[in-house]
Amino acid sequence: MPGLFRYPADSVATLGPALVREGVRAVLLFGVPRRKDATGSPASAEGSAVARATRLLRRHAPELVVFTDVCLCAYTDAGHCGIVRRGRLDPAATVRRLGEIAIAHARAGAEFVGPSAAMDHQVAAVRSALDDAGFPEVGILAYSAKFASAFYGPFREAEGSSPAFGDRRGYQFDPRMDREALAAFVRDQEEGADILMAKPAMTSLDLLARARRRVDRPLAAYQVSGEYAMIHAAGERGWIDGRAARDESLIAIRRAGADLIVSYFAREIAKEARAER
Ligand code: PBG
Ligand code: ZN
Repeated sequence: MPGLFRYPADSVATLGPALVREGVRAVLLFGVPRRKDATGSPASAEGSAVARATRLLRRHAPELVVFTDVCLCAYTDAGHCGIVRRGRLDPAATVRRLGEIAIAHARAGAEFVGPSAAMDHQVAAVRSALDDAGFPEVGILAYSAKFASAFYGPFREAEGSSPAFGDRRGYQFDPRMDREALAAFVRDQEEGADILMAKPAMTSLDLLARARRRVDRPLAAYQVSGEYAMIHAAGERGWIDGRAARDESLIAIRRAGADLIVSYFAREIAKEARAER
């Protein structure tokens, strides 16, 4: 995607301080492993790209808040967010693995972990895994309303995390399931989540607004890769004013109730805000 790159883990030793100087305050890390296996073992390895990058950021850019994504889709050969056994998802084995991954990230120094596998009770499982391992202070960013979406396409290509068979509709919400998605915010809060997120952002504005009245944790919205792609591509072609559309999209997400926004525009927005001050 124009303007976006995958970085070697070691490069964050210089990238992290550059982001801080530009005014970025937090990052969300995803890893691209060299090999994949049935249980996604590279995800919880001490030397995984995410763990190494987290350690380097803590050391070289301590001002930056480090969030890590905790999922299996990029690490398993099946390419699903959970562990697949005999063609079926194994939720119990999956949440155990998510706990192990979260602990590995916490050991590396992550301040927040984001379990994003859309498995039932993943927040409770990760919370107790972290507590038992001595990391009660590490927070949880819950992907509460996570819809099965066409807008994830560019991310999956960059991350190499497309399912090898089937799709994710068995565990991500159908866009029609607004009541279930809303209930997920309440459930994740009860399970101990610290921040509750909706994804994609622009197709979840109604849920953010409704969730705002039902939960009292900070709300986040993830403006996903396809949202960035749409705005960027149309702007590049001169079909819309890309910068104005970008700002308008972020304002609407805030207006709906998001306290935090995960966005691929973060770096350019931070830079521009700096320049204006
Ligand atoms: C799944 C995951 C997804 C994204 C990040 N982690 C969704 C998916 O592939 O089903 C998408 C993010 C984006 O599109 O920017 N754990
Ligand atoms: Zn996943």
